[in-house]
Amino acid sequence: GITRHYRFNIRLQSVTRLCHSRSIVTVNGQFPGPRIIAREGDRVVVKVVNHVQNNVTIHWHGVRQLRSGWADGPAYVTQCPIQTGQSYTYNFTITGQRGTLFWHAHISWLRVTVHGPLIILPKQGVPYPFAKPYKEVPIIFGEWFNTDTEAIISQALQTGGGPNVSDAYTINGLPGPLYNCSAKDTFKLSVKPGKTYLLRLINAALNDELFFSIANHTLTVVEADATYIKPFQAETILITPGQTTNVLLRTKPHFPSASFLMAARPYVTGPGTFDNSTTAGILEYQLNNSSSSSSSTIKLPLFRPTLPPLNDTSFAANFTKRFHSLANAKFPANVPQKVDKRFFFTVGLGTSPCPNNQTCQGPNGTKFAASVNNISFIQPTTALLQAHFFGQSNGVYTTDFPNNPPFPFNYTGTPPNNTLVSNGTKLVVLPFNTSVELVMQDTSIIGAESHPLHLHGFNFYVVGQGFGNYDPKKDPSKFNLVDPVERNTVGVPSGGWVAIRFFADNPGVWFMHCHLEVHTSWGLKMAWVVLDGKLPKQKLPPPPSDLPKC
Ligand code: C2O
Repeated sequence: GITRHYRFNIRLQSVTRLCHSRSIVTVNGQFPGPRIIAREGDRVVVKVVNHVQNNVTIHWHGVRQLRSGWADGPAYVTQCPIQTGQSYTYNFTITGQRGTLFWHAHISWLRVTVHGPLIILPKQGVPYPFAKPYKEVPIIFGEWFNTDTEAIISQALQTGGGPNVSDAYTINGLPGPLYNCSAKDTFKLSVKPGKTYLLRLINAALNDELFFSIANHTLTVVEADATYIKPFQAETILITPGQTTNVLLRTKPHFPSASFLMAARPYVTGPGTFDNSTTAGILEYQLNNSSSSSSSTIKLPLFRPTLPPLNDTSFAANFTKRFHSLANAKFPANVPQKVDKRFFFTVGLGTSPCPNNQTCQGPNGTKFAASVNNISFIQPTTALLQAHFFGQSNGVYTTDFPNNPPFPFNYTGTPPNNTLVSNGTKLVVLPFNTSVELVMQDTSIIGAESHPLHLHGFNFYVVGQGFGNYDPKKDPSKFNLVDPVERNTVGVPSGGWVAIRFFADNPGVWFMHCHLEVHTSWGLKMAWVVLDGKLPKQKLPPPPSDLPKC
């Protein structure tokens, strides 16, 4: 591989959407941010220079970061933030991965505007396991807020209520024609007839899972979270925040006498308010000799896709079940067949008490909270990885994260009367190369809800999923240990459970959290410590000299 150098200048930029201008935090003035392109095996070196008042970190979402945990990026987990006027150089090698990932800020809600595609091509000369596309197009979904998101979340955390929701969803930063004052901000994909396009779909939205569809076109899903899968066809894609999905779009053989809308809108399960608007872009066919600008002046009928109902959980469950890893000679599935350590985590919402001198807007006058095994994660004031590496964990974190909820109940039935969470910075310690099985169970406390759980530093295999309460006696016999999908973000079904397996072969401290940013803010997060192995190549090297200090 070669080394690819990038420079990210974090700076403010005035951006107008929906007729509202805002000064937003960007990378190099771009929204969405610049593309990073590398090949499998390359080293990526990104110097991030912070020119804004906010503290910043950048996370390379889905990059395995084998023995490079110092470059992972979540604030107060692997690093202290990059402060105003300071810089930090992220330096990592992409090993054994190719496909679509993305990068995003990993502190507070800054990732709403600080994100961009991270595209990993196969090694030079190595083909895709599917037909070579004529063109490749990143499509990154996001959210636009007319007001400052940092103010929204700090206000919500103070009052304990649900934060304001976004004003629009976006496709490559553009809300599209279904919003007021937005027709000119429409993503247009100009295509030729009879060609195959690879669409690299990325959900970078803060708080919403999304359905996506293109009118009158079927998509072939070929990749999930930068792992190849057994191809399958779908009219509609469901993509959670944190997930990336590659699809092939085969265009119509002849120039059609129509244009086609592509559209995305949310899949919503939980309680509270949400933005139920639709973002759209246009798929337009280019006549052979015409440029895209003249083709867009031809007025053709516009077909719209039909998207599933907002809370279509059976669509969600059936869609997820269709993902299977290739599991062939070239791309074998390395599913742990035997398990060293089993974990059972409940994930869900809860409440925390309202401080004496305050009025709170959460359920019954409390504050909203969220937890894993009833522990709502408290962010430390120094970085966990540093504390671990230098043996200074005392007063920073404890290693008594409970393996089971403190009081078992009917997770998907009537919620318990006591909905209070407890707080802590508790971690799980795993010896190097432990084979882990983790069952994550959604709870109905406050309301059942789908939670896209993201694990840093690993891909995991999704070996099972179901509705209701996980049954340790019956359910494991149905696990797929042959060709389960391998990914870094999985939806814990609303009112159900999911089982994953992975080898803890990457020393460091690894964050795991719901990728709905509001739930992360409420505490639906925890971290794993993976210890060094015996061999030199199983140890985490010391931090780079410019690692920020708290
Ligand atoms: Cu994409 Cu911890 O995040």
